[in-house]
Amino acid sequence: MRERPPGRPQAADRKAQPGGLPEGLPAGFAGRVVRWQRTHGRNNLPWQDTRDPYRVWLSEIMLQQTQVAAVIDYYGRFLRRFPDVQALAAAPLDDVLAAWSGLGYYSRARNLHRCAQEVVARHGGAFPRTAEALATLPGIGPSTAAAISSFCFGERAAILDGNVKRVLTRVLAFGDDLAVAAHERRLWDHARELLPRRDLQEAMPRYTQGLMDLGATVCLPRNPSCLLCPVQAECAAAKRGRPEDFPVKTRKLRRSAESLWLLHAQAGDGAVWLQKRPTPGVWAGLYCLPVYGSRDALEEALPAPVRRRLREVEPFVHVLTHKDLHLHPVQAVVPPGWAAGEGAWFGPREWPQLGLPAPVRRFLEGVA
Ligand code: ADE
Ligand code: SF4
Repeated sequence: MRERPPGRPQAADRKAQPGGLPEGLPAGFAGRVVRWQRTHGRNNLPWQDTRDPYRVWLSEIMLQQTQVAAVIDYYGRFLRRFPDVQALAAAPLDDVLAAWSGLGYYSRARNLHRCAQEVVARHGGAFPRTAEALATLPGIGPSTAAAISSFCFGERAAILDGNVKRVLTRVLAFGDDLAVAAHERRLWDHARELLPRRDLQEAMPRYTQGLMDLGATVCLPRNPSCLLCPVQAECAAAKRGRPEDFPVKTRKLRRSAESLWLLHAQAGDGAVWLQKRPTPGVWAGLYCLPVYGSRDALEEALPAPVRRRLREVEPFVHVLTHKDLHLHPVQAVVPPGWAAGEGAWFGPREWPQLGLPAPVRRFLEGVA
């Protein structure tokens, strides 16, 4: 094998550099995104005329799983109903859920309420000013935290939601599988290296919004509009003519996992409500605490007075051959005569005779 001459690194060497970006990339990238955002980005959304973290936070949570067009109405109405973090923190959860109704993913509303209460209780009603501190609050992940701190405080913090992953993996031709945590961490490192370095108060909000806008309007999953893209000249995937090869994410490297919520309804005498599991399905034919696919579904099965007095128990994992079941028991004390659909009350002395799933039996015996 012939040796390569010394000197300029070859492409393969550059790729192998730990953590390094392709030569020359960071220099112009942020500036191009910022300038493009000013003239071609979205600049009239209702949450863009403010640096009030309450408003920005609310919009980012709403936008996590809902389209901009649908959020606009809800955002205005929600703010009229809960104009500041104190009003939201003081409101009953049921009112918050009612104002959220229709937006879906109700765990967002519950976290929103808990977050408001923590901001009031732990931070005197003022949102923390760094992404690191924001990310310790309920419902705020690292990317949402960075969006808030860059929009409101000009912090040099990187976002990396699904759209931004698409833009950055394409620009960098980052072909490593993002299902691998170490690869995703490396993409986060790159996202931080690409951030603006100057004039952060003005540049950071524009840059953050610009990346979101590029992902939402130009660098689309299929047929991206590379000819209209401000970073086309430095985009490695576009140069190869293969934008759609990125990002790479395999479906399942890990065994699958499923979360189930178990309603542990107790009558005064220690009896619990058990249902026979349908066939087919997990635990088919066994007697089991009522099972729900989400905390929301569990709550919806309960009348309001019971719902207000639920108690979360430490979740536990039950390992099956093909998946991990994350079991979340939720305890409810219910009035006499109450019934959750099919099923019956069974006292502790009857449990040994019943076919119960092993983890449910252990759980019941542990708390009885
Ligand atoms: N999606 C998430 N955050 C957004 C924002 N600030 N503007 C538009 N879409 C978004
Ligand atoms: Fe995406 Fe094309 Fe722009 Fe590259 S040039 S970032 S692939 S739109």
